[in-house]
Amino acid sequence: MASNNNLNLAAQGKNDEFYTQYDDIQNELNCYYLYDKNFLRGKTVLLPCDDPQWSNFTKFFTMNFKLYGLKRLISTSYAAEKKKFIYKPMRDLFDDKDLPQFDCSKDFSHGKIFQLEAADLAAVNRPLDALKDSWRYLDGDGDYRSAEVKALRDEADVIITNPPFSMFRDFLKWILDAGKQFLIIGNKNCVTYKEVFPLIMHNKIWSGARPWTGGMWFVSANAECVDKVIDGQNFKNSPSIWLTNLEHGKRHEPLPLMTYEQCEKFHHKLRGVGFQRYDNYDAIEVPATSAIPADYQGVMGVPITFLDKYCPEQFEIVGLDRYTVPKEFLVGGRVAINGKPTYARILIRHRRRGDD
Ligand SMILES: C[S@@+](CC[C@H](N)C(=O)[O-])C[C@H]1O[C@@H](n2cnc3c(N)ncnc32)[C@H](O)[C@@H]1O
Repeated sequence: MASNNNLNLAAQGKNDEFYTQYDDIQNELNCYYLYDKNFLRGKTVLLPCDDPQWSNFTKFFTMNFKLYGLKRLISTSYAAEKKKFIYKPMRDLFDDKDLPQFDCSKDFSHGKIFQLEAADLAAVNRPLDALKDSWRYLDGDGDYRSAEVKALRDEADVIITNPPFSMFRDFLKWILDAGKQFLIIGNKNCVTYKEVFPLIMHNKIWSGARPWTGGMWFVSANAECVDKVIDGQNFKNSPSIWLTNLEHGKRHEPLPLMTYEQCEKFHHKLRGVGFQRYDNYDAIEVPATSAIPADYQGVMGVPITFLDKYCPEQFEIVGLDRYTVPKEFLVGGRVAINGKPTYARILIRHRRRGDD
């Protein structure tokens, strides 16, 4: 039976079935809206790799369609038979079985598309009522790489989603190849990928507004991949962040810093040790973003989490240890102190230096 085969596949494959909570979407989008109330006005927003029937992305943008002044909202889903976990952990926004569009011969094998324009909302009392009438089956399975979904990408101005974790690199390329604006969720480590870091370094893309601490909680479709259960719903914590090329105010807030002398005197990671220099690269080791000295003019190695606080007017990114320090000098792929490799380090310096 098809469903059993899929359950077997699920057991072997990577799990991409994590669903984003409404609050996480709302909190993030609020930051862009507060920065520029017209940031999506007149635009077509595509939510690929979504599930219009229960997705909080679809729900949020339907509810806020008017406020944001959208021209068009499109949401597409991946066919149920292609999903690694077919158990549906979210409550449906509408029951499709009773609707004239429902077709049991397509429901498992085809993706779905939901499209909304201002006129659709004008025809209903509550925005979410528009969902019922505004969907149909895609011709194919809804794979974002299909010609059908690519054509939707090309029509869109902005692409927003939590893409399959296992395909992050390819998905970002898919967006950037089409030169689109985007807001997506990825694992924290994605910032170090060779396809991603140079874009961050050259300020083409950046971290979203949500602080990096604590990870994000997703609704999990896999009963074996659960960190907590609330009201019978499974949640998984994942070290995830938002990545974007949309403007938000937070990235222009400069970090308040202590002087070199104060850091050595007061910072708990430096007291009694002071700033150390790397053996294999001309820079000082800064063990925490809060220990970046305000008055040091050379290159500093900082933890990856610095990107959560990175203000491009305040700092210049010089590189990432593994891509910047010549391979033959790296120790275990890293900069090192007294022969011991540090954790991964981003190399930065102040923009307004005394010598400028
Ligand atoms: C991390 S989940 C996020 C779902 C939804 N966007 C959300 O945040 O609630 C990623 C989704 O992408 C779907 N997916 C996996 N591979 C895909 C592909 N090649 N094309 C389109 N969707 C895919 C998965 O089935 C899964 O539902």
